[in-house]
Amino acid sequence: MTALSVSTSSAASLRADALVIGVAKGPKGIVLAPGSEAVAEAFEGKLAEVLTTLGATGAEGEAVKVPSPAGLKAALVLAVGLGEAADGGYPAEALRCAAGVAARTLAGAKKAALALPAESADEVEAVALGGLLGAYTFGTYKNSGAKEPVGELVLLVARKGSKDAKAAVERALAVGEEMNRARDLVNTAPNDLNPKGFAAIAQAAGKEHGLKVEVLDEKALLKGGFGGLLGVGNGSANPPRLVKVAYTHPKAKASLAFVGKGITYDSGGISLKPAGHNETMKCDMAGAAAVFAAVVAAKRLGLAVNVTGWLALAENMPSGSATRPGDVLKMYGGKTVEVLNTDAEGRLVLADAIVRAGEENPDVIVDVATLTGAMMVALGNRTFGVMANNDELRETLHTVAGEAGEPSWPMPLPAELRKGMTESTIADLANMGDRMGGGLVAGLFLQEFVAEGIDWAHLDIAGPAFHEGAPFGYTPKGGTATAVRTLVRFAEQTAAGAKA
Ligand code: BES
Ligand code: MN
Ligand code: ZN
Repeated sequence: MTALSVSTSSAASLRADALVIGVAKGPKGIVLAPGSEAVAEAFEGKLAEVLTTLGATGAEGEAVKVPSPAGLKAALVLAVGLGEAADGGYPAEALRCAAGVAARTLAGAKKAALALPAESADEVEAVALGGLLGAYTFGTYKNSGAKEPVGELVLLVARKGSKDAKAAVERALAVGEEMNRARDLVNTAPNDLNPKGFAAIAQAAGKEHGLKVEVLDEKALLKGGFGGLLGVGNGSANPPRLVKVAYTHPKAKASLAFVGKGITYDSGGISLKPAGHNETMKCDMAGAAAVFAAVVAAKRLGLAVNVTGWLALAENMPSGSATRPGDVLKMYGGKTVEVLNTDAEGRLVLADAIVRAGEENPDVIVDVATLTGAMMVALGNRTFGVMANNDELRETLHTVAGEAGEPSWPMPLPAELRKGMTESTIADLANMGDRMGGGLVAGLFLQEFVAEGIDWAHLDIAGPAFHEGAPFGYTPKGGTATAVRTLVRFAEQTAAGAKA
């Protein structure tokens, strides 16, 4: 893993393979960002000219390399784009992206110094987090040709405020390392990560960080009547698990429950997905990975709020023992569901976990799930949908997501869509309703399992959970760890006394 440190050394004297500076788009060509002064000096005032000649425009995502002149200890200068020039400080997302592009561009290098804008603690945190996330690589299965992440990132900061800078880096490490852990879980091949294995990882990591972890295995699930988890899991040789990860703080005034969809592989079951639709379905546990990462991060940050994570883990496979379209499941808590399509499995495992989470009377339940293709059709690949049984909570989550750097959009739960789902002729509910608005129908299904009086929100992350295109900013190919920062920021805000 990439090491991250803070230094008050001058950019000119620090020994590193590369020195990273920021450039922005100004009204009359590129503008060198704060942090680049010593580098500009070494270029004797010609740096902007050299970079422009090499094609730099300051656009976000841009990376331009120049050999260092005499006077700099680093061999190479890397200029990364920050977007529009800003006098009053750069937006956190621009800094995260620029640092991410730098770390990604310098994969394989031993040590890079980041001389990006880092005057305030918020700026330091943004640069540190972007750097850590951009440095991420997943080389588990490659015998050769895997990119090593950049070995070490040194953040250059001014001497005054270097204490705040260290604290900011600690915060970035807590969130960034846990996000990278979530990415690893998503990227791991499904033959190497089944519900039992995921639960074991949660147990080990929980122990490492002093969290209480409880695992219900298939016997305990049967005894407890968790028909949703068992119904989805019974077509697989790998039985389901329900994992509870609890973080408590002695001064907590509120408790949050985070529930994650953890389908370690979604083949569709008997309603089998066609080729072209199942190759990336190892990502169907991204909600559970995000929830787990957020609880560990809350603990590492010492937030004054109680956070319980619920991981609903199962593998959705077709077999002679699999649930059939037409079967009726008796869910945890007693509701019955006619399974009309075994590929609508996420809502079944989540329903059990939401009912179980509700029994502990949290102030808020937030579930996170790669739930529907329909949400991807609606919002594309980078934005998750936010639904809730409370308008204020939906707005709060949309807002904290934006503040944390995660694109999201509020979606409704229209009452008329509930009808199609409650029209099962033989059970309380069907697991399918109208095709139109499928993402909202799934949200309405989950809402049926939220206990009276509990505020609940649902994040459908099917779009942004797994990135198939070219890497951008601090987002690599594969697992993205989307929603982790939203959950952490929501917990932070709750701890700070905002109304939960
Ligand atoms: N895991 C899928 C949703 C999904 C699709 C996530 C693509 C990420 C990328 C989910 O279990 C599913 O199959 N949903 C069905 C529901 C339908 C059968 C009502 C869908 O969206 O087609
Ligand atoms: Mn499915
Ligand atoms: Zn699924």
